[in-house]
Amino acid sequence: MKKLKKNPWFDKWAALAKEKGYPARSVFKLKEIQEKFKVIKPGFKVLDLGASPGSWSQFVCEIVGPQGKVVGVDIEPVKFHSKLFLFMQKDVFTLTKKDFEELGITQFDVILSDMAPKTTGIETTDHLRSVELAMKALELCKELLKEGGSAIVKIFDGPELPKVRKEFEKIFLSVKIFRPKATRKGSKELFIIGLNKK
Ligand SMILES: C[S@@+](CC[C@H](N)C(=O)[O-])C[C@H]1O[C@@H](n2cnc3c(N)ncnc32)[C@H](O)[C@@H]1O
Repeated sequence: MKKLKKNPWFDKWAALAKEKGYPARSVFKLKEIQEKFKVIKPGFKVLDLGASPGSWSQFVCEIVGPQGKVVGVDIEPVKFHSKLFLFMQKDVFTLTKKDFEELGITQFDVILSDMAPKTTGIETTDHLRSVELAMKALELCKELLKEGGSAIVKIFDGPELPKVRKEFEKIFLSVKIFRPKATRKGSKELFIIGLNKK
């Protein structure tokens, strides 16, 4: 009998995500960040950059409830649908003010970015590409985040991290770097937590 090949990406977090009905294991990273920093609250308007397949948005909709709204953006389509969830299938670098005006939401309480570049395996290239995405998320925080608002932004660790952190410190009163337990072993992924926009 043919032996089934073990999928190296299917670990206990992926199994748990499947069991709980989330489209991706990454939800557990956001859950941990939320438990620690409590940035998302009922009634909030949240922008989720790099939302596909949709597990972060699904989890955030559960928290914000019927008085809140979640806007997702991704190049790829999402597998999650809800009355509270508006989705734009777009590259973040092409987003304009008009896109948000058309949705009727131009200010957010929280901005999330789980955006990741297609990895090449070349550490410096992957780091620099993730820096570009994190800086784009920061630019959107400057334009769209309310005073007092917070951001959670993924970045791959590397030599540019201190510079990026300094840029976040210019607009947030407090900035932390956090690595959730659900992050894969050996991954360079970290999250910049920007609290209390100035
Ligand atoms: C790790 S996945 C996000 C998983 C998601 N948070 C979830 O829980 O389902 C990273 C996403 O970033 C998106 N992404 C990467 N570059 C992007 C860009 N320039 N604009 C929009 N989305 C982008 C990818 O298409 C991918 O879906």
